[in-house]
Amino acid sequence: MILVTGGAGFIGANFVLDWIAQVGEPVVTLDKLTYAGNRANLAALEGDGRHTFLQGDITDGALLEQLLAQHQPRAIVHFAAESHVDRSIHGPEDFIQTNVIGTFRLLEAARSYWNGLQDQAKAAFRFLHVSTDEVYGSLAPEAPAFTEQHAYEPNSPYSASKAASDHLVRAWFHTYGLPVLTTNCSNNYGPLHFPEKLIPLVITNALAGKPLPIYGDGQQIRDWLFVKDHCSGIRRVLEAGQLGETYNIGGHNEMANIDIVKRICALLDELRPRADGQGYATQITFVKDRPGHDRRYAIDASRMQNELGWQPAETFDSGIRKTVQWYLDNAAWVENVQSGAYRDWVQKQYA
Ligand code: NAD
Ligand code: TYD
Repeated sequence: MILVTGGAGFIGANFVLDWIAQVGEPVVTLDKLTYAGNRANLAALEGDGRHTFLQGDITDGALLEQLLAQHQPRAIVHFAAESHVDRSIHGPEDFIQTNVIGTFRLLEAARSYWNGLQDQAKAAFRFLHVSTDEVYGSLAPEAPAFTEQHAYEPNSPYSASKAASDHLVRAWFHTYGLPVLTTNCSNNYGPLHFPEKLIPLVITNALAGKPLPIYGDGQQIRDWLFVKDHCSGIRRVLEAGQLGETYNIGGHNEMANIDIVKRICALLDELRPRADGQGYATQITFVKDRPGHDRRYAIDASRMQNELGWQPAETFDSGIRKTVQWYLDNAAWVENVQSGAYRDWVQKQYA
């Protein structure tokens, strides 16, 4: 059995669904169900005895101790976080609470639980911390991609809070011997992505006839990875990663924001042409830039490939087509999320 924190969010839910389908080992999901957590993301597992859902906060140390003692997981995969850079600029407090204090509480609960395990279970236990390439800061245009040796230079409250959590995880390995692993992944996209982030926002705004906001000149570069490839990378690190080490996960898909948005518009023109015969690209609108906007991220994932034999399965072309199609096929999910109705659903389930 493994414990997954943040399993009702975008990547966590994809991870839990894939894990149950492909590994089949039971999962306990712990999630606070913030605005980003959606119980319906795991609806396919309702009634499946291999999945247990618990609503709770990772800053609640007593809850963590109790649930570790009760469920006795062999591993913790830690996704729970506040994850949106723009929100962190407008209100950093929750990012410090969940990403820093929450990770600290989880490490402490894990340490106490792990110390009490028998030798064999103790040796097998893993704490896998899911982090981001944004901890490395911004790359100059011609600079080589981030390796695991790159200095930490976070620029946003979000990336600073994730950097802090990475450092705590590292320290709990070196000081207490807790068997930790850290992954630093590039920008994800795919099904179940909350439509505040660039790719799902552009797809849903385009279909709703709204403007497609491009910050600044749109020449910022991100390195995109299909979410299922991130999930397979995490499974591989959990299985074979060296304790105390960090692994960069990415798919060699550097693209400028404006090119991503044009690609999505072209796919929608093909799959769901506008009734008035115009292209979706006419909805593109340049807006004020994000403060402190990082210019470029790029991941060198050669360690994952050379040491763990991991490679992404999707190209950007195949992944973005699947993603656009998923949003076209799941209009009810989008509507639920945008109207906030998923919160009523949660309240009804847990009343
Ligand atoms: P998300 O915002 O979609 O989901 C986060 C989940 O954590 C939500 O279900 C939320 O309810 C839950 N949560 C938040 N605060 C909590 C708390 N205090 N206690 C328990 N649960 C809480 O985020 P995501 O995009 O799925 O990202 C998941 C993880 O992956 C994060 O740690 C993020 O830093 C990391 N990451 C994300 C990306 C990306 O492109 N989205 C890339 C690399 C790494
Ligand atoms: P985002 O999806 O928020 O991810 P991150 O900031 O973690 O990389 O943004 C991806 C890129 O798209 C980033 O350079 C900011 C830009 N962006 C826009 O231009 N317009 C938007 O409406 C959003 C949400 C992002």
